[in-house]
Amino acid sequence: MIHLSVNINKIATLRNARGGNVPDVQKFAIDCERYGAQGITVHPRPDQRHITFLDVELLRPVVKTEFNIEGYPTEQFIALVIKNKADQVTLVPDKPGQLTSDHGWDIKTHLVELKRIIAIFKNARIRTSLFVDPDPEMIQLAPETGTDRIELYTESYARLYPENRELAIEPYIKAAEKAVALGLGINAGHDLCLDNLNYFAKNIPGLLEVSIGHALISEALYYGIENTIQLYNRQLKG
Ligand code: PXP
Repeated sequence: MIHLSVNINKIATLRNARGGNVPDVQKFAIDCERYGAQGITVHPRPDQRHITFLDVELLRPVVKTEFNIEGYPTEQFIALVIKNKADQVTLVPDKPGQLTSDHGWDIKTHLVELKRIIAIFKNARIRTSLFVDPDPEMIQLAPETGTDRIELYTESYARLYPENRELAIEPYIKAAEKAVALGLGINAGHDLCLDNLNYFAKNIPGLLEVSIGHALISEALYYGIENTIQLYNRQLKG
């Protein structure tokens, strides 16, 4: 079974637009779980423009499925993840002001640093995942960091999917086969949506989890969040 982790950053963006607590981010997370999400993802950025550090603290006691915190590993981020005992941390190489994640780690350049950081999370018994492009060289290097999983950055799959889905998925199948052979768990995310998810889920060997925010929340405007989560789970099963 492939787990659906709902990224709730956009709910915080909406709340922050007005101040106050509407919509309620904690309640939204609880409801996502009730409707069938097997995980909740948040991405606290240094400028706290969507999920704030306080949100992370308030979400921790209410999230009963997998709590995945993603972000660039500053010392502040590392402390936040450990304090709040995430079930999984996904490390992304974002710059502080970046709009959204737009590339995976260059593991070759950052190997020593990633090893050090992953050891800290391992010590705290927090599962680690590294955001990577479907690049065989990076997958080959990933086990040297000590990471448990990789998260495949799926933007290029999503972009090419409408034109040529076979071509779009090819590098991801190769990357996943390599990761499985190396004993890495596989997550995936970015720009996955109701249209492109089923083909990805059916074709990627060893896929354990997808983390989806932007499209899922946008689709929920039409279908409602309960239906939307069920529609996503159907895409992951069928
Ligand atoms: N994975 C990572 C590492 C991300 O940074 C994001 C965006 O916050 C996602 C997955 C989810 O992407 P999307 O919002 O396009 O579904």
